[in-house]
Amino acid sequence: MSGAMAKAAVRPVAIKADPPTTHRSDDWKATRTSHRPGFLLPVVFTVPQPHLMDVFRVNGSRPLRGTVHTSGAKNAALPLFAAALLSDETVTIENVPDLSDIRFMAEIMRHIGADVERSDADTWKVHARKLTNHAPYELVRKMRASVCLMGPLIGRLRSAVVSLPGGCVIGPRPIDLHLKGFSGLGCGVSIEGGYVHLDARHLHGADLFLGGRHGSTALGTANILMAAVLAPGTTRIESAACEPEVVDLCRLLRAMGARIDGIGSHALVVEGVERLHGATHRVISDRIEAGTFLIAGAITGGDVTVEGARASDLAALLDKLRECGVPIESPAPDCVRVRADRPHSRKAIDVITMPHPGFATDLQAQMCALMAVTPGLSIITEKVFPNRFMHVPELQRMGADIAIEGPSAIIKGLSRLSGAPVMASDLRASAALVLAALAAHGESWIQRVYHIDRGYERIDLRLKRLGAAIERLPADQMPKHLDGEPG
Ligand code: EPU
Repeated sequence: MSGAMAKAAVRPVAIKADPPTTHRSDDWKATRTSHRPGFLLPVVFTVPQPHLMDVFRVNGSRPLRGTVHTSGAKNAALPLFAAALLSDETVTIENVPDLSDIRFMAEIMRHIGADVERSDADTWKVHARKLTNHAPYELVRKMRASVCLMGPLIGRLRSAVVSLPGGCVIGPRPIDLHLKGFSGLGCGVSIEGGYVHLDARHLHGADLFLGGRHGSTALGTANILMAAVLAPGTTRIESAACEPEVVDLCRLLRAMGARIDGIGSHALVVEGVERLHGATHRVISDRIEAGTFLIAGAITGGDVTVEGARASDLAALLDKLRECGVPIESPAPDCVRVRADRPHSRKAIDVITMPHPGFATDLQAQMCALMAVTPGLSIITEKVFPNRFMHVPELQRMGADIAIEGPSAIIKGLSRLSGAPVMASDLRASAALVLAALAAHGESWIQRVYHIDRGYERIDLRLKRLGAAIERLPADQMPKHLDGEPG
């Protein structure tokens, strides 16, 4: 790491187009140096940016207190961006979280010909006048969600060549159900040289079943929906995913002129239309981020109110937190408060992840952290991604007593964890490590926090405002003897 990079945790840079960070926080200032009256004019922001190799230093054992506002949902925003390709008119997407995954998506969509611009801190405009059908490996491999470009491309162009994304640290992520759905819609499907080739000249509506070994598929349902809205005839999708993010996609598609019934259920019916028009849409708030903040309140024995948390989207988590003895209130429909001032009264529980409305796999790692400091024996079973336990060896480094048996984590809750240097491996695993560090005695260092920046907008600053002792530092400020990076 260079000396210049070591100077400050926050490094001002001048960049064009997509500013990489939020400018909403106090100590995180961005200056818009040229105003853009219209669309597609370059804007220069001067912003400090999180760096790829930043680390977090956390001093734990402080109860978090206060109110935090939930950002827009990453997993809703990504397919919404893709859906904007279905029209040659402008689609405006508001409440977009400021995340590296969003910037990746914008980059890929520009590559295939769309104008994608950030017009305000959380508003993006997509104008896909002309598109090409080819999404290359070097972009797709950076982010799996780019597979959901297939549906819009075949809807619009009747042809798509999209790279297969490759391996994923949370376990096998096949796209066989996506391809089965496209084939049912009359597409020719082949895989050559690592690319999926889709020939949709004869695209038509059809009756499809999209359930797999692990239940429904969120991005698979999104992909098929986006192809079906422009396919002649009627498409019926059985065993469709009903995640709030899929519902949000249906809402945007409807606003663009699509005809979809059964929204929010496992049976969607789509009447294909000839074209879709532009629309403006506000992304729903991020239930996983909200859930992570609620668990942060619980694990630190704090009192945290999460605004923008829709209790109805979080029913399975709230049910499990209550069962565990964590007091939960919902003072308003979009607000949940966790008042966990008696952490010793928590008790062990069992959790099984499932597709929505079951307990979300994206909150499993965070729940493992909570159960690691909850007295008794808890069993957390992962039914969606049965190998998604990369956080466990790192939690063990903090003293957690967890054994993995097949798809289950068997957790003997301790009264405390102890701070340690740990390594983040993926988005939700990193969140679990932050939560564990907030509860642990002593100091923890968390490396590779770029994983967490993919899905949580400046989590360090927001936790700090709730009273956490967490700092983002350049990696070279980490004491050498604690550094776990291979040399
Ligand atoms: N599956 C198949 N075949 C397929 C597709 C999926 O067998 O063709 C299996 C998967 O292997 C998994 C299950 O079905 O066992 C569910 O996977 P799903 O397709 O629903 O996952 P996804 O749509 O690729 C989204 C989120 C994930 C989240 C899962 C499950 C986005 C961008 N990603 O992925 O989010 O874990 O749904 O809810 O929406 C995260 O945010 O950290 C994350 C990984």
